[in-house]
Amino acid sequence: MAAKIIALFNQSGGVGKTTLTQNLGYHLGQLGRKVLLVDDDPQSSLTVFMGLEPTELKKTLYDAVAKEEEIEIIHDLFGMSLAPASLTLSTAEIELVGAIMGELRLKQALETVKDDYDYILIDCPPSLGILSIMSLVAATHVLVPVQTEFKALKGTELLLNTIVRVLKVANKKLKIAGFVPTMCDTRTAQGENSLKSIYEQLSKIGTVLPTIPRATDFANASQSRKPLALYNPKHPAVEILQQIAKQLDGIQ
Ligand SMILES: Nc1ncnc2c1ncn2[C@@H]1O[C@H](COP(=O)(O)OP(=O)(O)O)[C@@H](O)[C@H]1O
Ligand SMILES: [Mg+2]
Repeated sequence: MAAKIIALFNQSGGVGKTTLTQNLGYHLGQLGRKVLLVDDDPQSSLTVFMGLEPTELKKTLYDAVAKEEEIEIIHDLFGMSLAPASLTLSTAEIELVGAIMGELRLKQALETVKDDYDYILIDCPPSLGILSIMSLVAATHVLVPVQTEFKALKGTELLLNTIVRVLKVANKKLKIAGFVPTMCDTRTAQGENSLKSIYEQLSKIGTVLPTIPRATDFANASQSRKPLALYNPKHPAVEILQQIAKQLDGIQ
């Protein structure tokens, strides 16, 4: 069966997209699923978090989407595979604007490999440009990490409008897998209030998945270039990530 292709999408930076992509991918892998992570961000954080050096890579996602070459995949990284990126991907953003149906390039690049995986997780850049649109066009599902803070809902209208546009025009089958509140300060009233308003607003639109707490070990783990579960297996957030992975596994 073809993979479920999940785009982790939010036009704001620093909300935890990349961290969630790596960790959910890891836990889906631990459930026995075949997982491919796609780094669709020129900043290449995912590629770095996975232990690679973007400047040393000969081929990256750029070659697949801009030059229509076979997608470069590196295997056996914490039980997952990775299509890495480098800063060169930022030039694709410009090159693809002029290309005929440039929005289809990632879908096209994944066509030949999607049967090899159960899940393909796409880490989107913090923008609404063609790289993000391309991933929503390639995806079967979109998963939205939302930072649990007071201003979190401010950008969601724009984000949802973009998803609706893609649904109407370019990918009628796209489904919302859900929202993941991230970086939640559960011990403060502010954290609790923000979480409450996220539930109130977003549960009307889709599933609100378990909340990821704010924890410095997430940053420590990515600095050590590994998933949280391998950096600190006993961290309470590990169980939450496992729960989200279990809930995602089996989405239709
Ligand atoms: N739950 C969390 N608690 C604390 N820090 C986090 C958490 N998730 C991610 N971070 C850190 O916040 C920064 C931004 O996270 P990242 O996943 O790169 O966000 P995005 O991909 O949305 O820009 C990184 O330094 C990361 O280590
Ligand atoms: Mg990122």
